[in-house]
Amino acid sequence: MLALAGHPLGLELVFVDPNPDAPAGQVAELVAADYGDAAALRALERCDVVTYEFENVPLDVTRRIAAATRVLPPPRALEVARDRLLEKRCFRELGIPTPAFRDVGTERELGEALSELGLPAVLKARRQGYDGKGQAVIEDASAIAAAWQRLSPDYGADAFILESKVAFERELSIIAVRGAAGDVRSYPLIENRHRDGILDVSIAPAPGITPELAREAEAHARRLLEHFDYVGVLALELFQVGGRLLANELAPRVHNSGHLTIEAASTSQFENHLRAIVGWPLGAVELTTPACMLNLVGALPDPAPALALGGAHFHDYGKPARRGRKLGHVTVCASTAELGLERLERLRAELRAPGGEAG
Ligand SMILES: Nc1ncnc2c1ncn2[C@@H]1O[C@H](COP(=O)(O)OP(=O)(O)O)[C@@H](O)[C@H]1O
Ligand SMILES: [Mg+2]
Repeated sequence: MLALAGHPLGLELVFVDPNPDAPAGQVAELVAADYGDAAALRALERCDVVTYEFENVPLDVTRRIAAATRVLPPPRALEVARDRLLEKRCFRELGIPTPAFRDVGTERELGEALSELGLPAVLKARRQGYDGKGQAVIEDASAIAAAWQRLSPDYGADAFILESKVAFERELSIIAVRGAAGDVRSYPLIENRHRDGILDVSIAPAPGITPELAREAEAHARRLLEHFDYVGVLALELFQVGGRLLANELAPRVHNSGHLTIEAASTSQFENHLRAIVGWPLGAVELTTPACMLNLVGALPDPAPALALGGAHFHDYGKPARRGRKLGHVTVCASTAELGLERLERLRAELRAPGGEAG
């Protein structure tokens, strides 16, 4: 999606991905190699600017590239965002409220943290987790040992954070962009609904957002952007609890909930990310229409019902199918977010792929 946004701007883009099937290879030059591979480094170091859209790029690689050329967003933002403990501490230092959390290194510390935070709680791997992987919800005391035994072998020492499980009303994200001159723009708040830990549906603008809530989210995003002297797109995932917002996590990159900005905003998050890192003026971030997005996970359905629906846009990433994998998405634009959601849910039933998870 970055490649598709960069092409009409006249940008020459090179992508590095260890996976030779990476979708970028279908539309741009792809170096299929490990991030630290010599050929990959050579390809990146000769670029005017290097960015990333994946948190688990090794830090030594980003630092090496940063010694040779510009890396944006700044590697420090990546370092913090890829570690849930550093991330939550950073939120707290900046005065951004979060769920209660404790650092957990051992099973004994897990017990101590649980007695402080109480139940229910969520045990999360600090690093490498995504789409709900590396997490265990602990609803009652009988689940503690099983959660530890399931997760601890895969993530090593000092690898966890325990959070209070928040009874949120809904999940929101704010996508903001900071340009090279320090100017900040925020897209309207988006509501996100998850299934099995994976983003299922995004709704924009999130219905019923008060001006106070919008201002609060924008202020949090701005504080983070300024803290890192950030350039590019950043997404902040939030829980809405009563009239309050709690920060869940930070993505130092374009975000799944922002895919709908391709059709529904004046400038997509992908274009704005590229404009920012290249040092060009940012584009307008207002929505040109309400829209809802449905992720297509595990199997791609026949696109015909989506193509037949007015205001719907079908995206196939050209990825090999795999259980739990995001293979594409559909965005439905409509005159209101509620109407978009209604059409999207009707479409979901029609898109049910034989044996697939979409729906
Ligand atoms: N502390 C929490 N309380 C309640 N639900 C949570 C909590 N942390 C995570 N979740 C749920 O799990 C989802 C995935 O967790 P998240 O921390 O965003 O990890 P990732 O998106 O990297 O897999 C969240 O979007 C939310 O639905
Ligand atoms: Mg998340």
